[in-house]
Amino acid sequence: MSAQADREVDLSEWENCWQEGRISFHRSDVHNLLKANVDKLICGRREVRFFFPLCGKAVDMKWLADLGHTVVGVDISEKGIKEFFQEQNLEYNEEAVADIPGAKLFKESPQRNEPPTIPA
Ligand SMILES: C[S@@+](CC[C@H](N)C(=O)[O-])C[C@H]1O[C@@H](n2cnc3c(N)ncnc32)[C@H](O)[C@@H]1O
Repeated sequence: MSAQADREVDLSEWENCWQEGRISFHRSDVHNLLKANVDKLICGRREVRFFFPLCGKAVDMKWLADLGHTVVGVDISEKGIKEFFQEQNLEYNEEAVADIPGAKLFKESPQRNEPPTIPA
């Protein structure tokens, strides 16, 4: 193993990667293993809740949401999160997180499974 392989990458380095477009970790297709094993993962359940820590802009999140599941992702990079919504053509809104100073919540809008608001 190279010395680089077990080096801890700090948050500012991750943010720099996003700002400079150095995101070779990103894949434009859903992971093969997820596709191949999704039935075993879901086990016939509906509306499963998935958590993606360190999510980047993984397209797997949209794929699972399109199957009717709920997905929450967390990433340090606001740029990555915004790119996710933009590239997936999803409208979103942005709110502060009351208990975590500086944190933001980006949420698909309107939310899936939410009945549309009918204007009066
Ligand atoms: C190797 S990338 C993987 C991204 C995504 N899972 C994928 O497969 O495309 C790691 C991601 O974790 C994020 N990250 C690293 N440390 C983090 C932390 N402490 N909290 C939140 N996000 C973090 C980075 O911004 C980066 O998007």
